[in-house]
Amino acid sequence: MVKAVERQYTGPADLRAMQSLAERIWSPASHCHVGDLAWQRFEHVGREPAWRTRLWEADGQVVAWGWAEAGHLSLLVDPAWPELAGSVLDWASPSEVKVLDGEKHVITALERRGFQVASDAPFHHYMSRSLAEVPSPALPDGFVARPAGSADVDRRVEVHRAAWHPSRVTVESYRNVMAAWPYRGSLDWVVEAPDGRFAAYCLIWLDAVNSVAELEPVGTDPAFRGMGLATAVCLAAMRAASEAGAEQAIVYPVDGYPAVKLYQGLGFTPYARTFTYRRP
Ligand SMILES: CC(C)(COP(=O)(O)OP(=O)(O)OC[C@H]1O[C@@H](n2cnc3c(N)ncnc32)[C@H](O)[C@@H]1OP(=O)(O)O)[C@@H](O)C(=O)NCCC(=O)NCCS
Repeated sequence: MVKAVERQYTGPADLRAMQSLAERIWSPASHCHVGDLAWQRFEHVGREPAWRTRLWEADGQVVAWGWAEAGHLSLLVDPAWPELAGSVLDWASPSEVKVLDGEKHVITALERRGFQVASDAPFHHYMSRSLAEVPSPALPDGFVARPAGSADVDRRVEVHRAAWHPSRVTVESYRNVMAAWPYRGSLDWVVEAPDGRFAAYCLIWLDAVNSVAELEPVGTDPAFRGMGLATAVCLAAMRAASEAGAEQAIVYPVDGYPAVKLYQGLGFTPYARTFTYRRP
């Protein structure tokens, strides 16, 4: 039996290896898409010193990783190596861990260590939609949906910051996002208003191995909400993802937020949810 070897994270090549694990074990029972790691690692700058990241490898590939910040731990463990869930938990010693309901090997390791479900914690609905047929977007007169290019980065960042105010996304951090694998400019869509402002956006990350497109993130400037623009830009981006080979789209809105209604209206249905486990 091969033994997994653990080591510290050393840089971007390791992030790519962590994404390879996400790609290799992706299923409706896995919480992590390749796009999650790219977005979460690059959406802000200056956070690296607060992160601890560790990898477990066997047979030349990553079979588990943990990414800890303060008391929180994000972990991904190959279900073929269930015992490593305990190794990652023991290394990070977190107070709180969010898992998907299907990650049974991780849940088992948490429960063995006395963690309990925090029933008051917010949770994410994991929702999916087939991309076999995606309707054409309908836009108000004068509004245009199109992919954002590298020349648009200032306006691209402005619309994100308006939607998520207060936001720590900057032109510098967004350039890092655009440079991250598997970012594709052809899947980063905006709606441009008649006055040239970007009013809404939808960034899609494509896992080309599993043909799964993740919407992360989506937003509309508050000045343009309720006009159907998020609906339109998501449809436009999903059509582009379908043309690029995606068969399924996924998204993870937080329960109780308006975005749940947006995605329901777009034909997404829930297939899983997260649970937060806390150490008593
Ligand atoms: C969620 C968000 C993208 C919606 O943008 P929008 O352009 O106003 O959305 P649309 O006009 O296309 O509306 C889509 C649907 O959501 C509903 N909706 C939008 N905002 C809503 C709100 N505040 N309360 C209730 N329903 C709302 C609309 O009524 C519409 O449903 P309908 O088709 O049944 O009429 C926007 O509020 C936003 O940017 N929020 C902050 C960022 C965010 O949460 N992003 C999503 C993360 S997963």
